[in-house]
Amino acid sequence: MNIVKTLNDEAASLALASDLSAALRTQLQGETEQAESEFPDGLVIYMLGDLGAGKTTFSRGILRGFGHQGAVKSPTYTLVEPYDLSTPVFHFDLYRLADPEELEYMGIRDYFAPGNLCLIEWPSRGEGFLPKPDIVIRIHVDGQGRKIDLEAQNAAAERILKALA
Ligand SMILES: Nc1ncnc2c1ncn2[C@@H]1O[C@H](COP(=O)(O)OP(=O)(O)OP(=O)(O)O)[C@@H](O)[C@H]1O
Ligand SMILES: [Mg+2]
Repeated sequence: MNIVKTLNDEAASLALASDLSAALRTQLQGETEQAESEFPDGLVIYMLGDLGAGKTTFSRGILRGFGHQGAVKSPTYTLVEPYDLSTPVFHFDLYRLADPEELEYMGIRDYFAPGNLCLIEWPSRGEGFLPKPDIVIRIHVDGQGRKIDLEAQNAAAERILKALA
């Protein structure tokens, strides 16, 4: 199941991300025990799209929805930025990851724990060392704006995306 939307400007991206975070919060915090069994690696979102597509912008909207008020920097060199919010959120940007094995050295497994939310830009760079996604988000440039495709990878993720339809 997937949802496709047109996002005419940055504000539209932030608004949809805010709606998604509300749906995620309900799922991750509402029924904690169920969420833990449905998302044993935490809730994992892959964010696909070319350089400048708007992945970090959308991530910022999600983080705001979870209560983060400051800026969101791209963790291009650090690979991951943790946010200590109502739900622990980890924002990855793996663009500069030269060797996916580096993820083992940085203790990647620890981030994928029940109750966490992991947003991953450039997951292709970490292939073989990342858990499967629950939701795949694809963004591409469409005129002045963007097109977004959110795809649920399992039934639990489908319930989340249905709230956006
Ligand atoms: N829906 C939108 N409509 C128009 N512009 C947008 C939209 N969403 C984001 N942008 C703009 O696109 C630019 C790039 O955004 P962003 O940094 O989020 O891309 P990215 O996909 O994270 O890139 P990278 O792969 O380099 O990390 C920014 O200037 C942002 O304001
Ligand atoms: Mg980015």
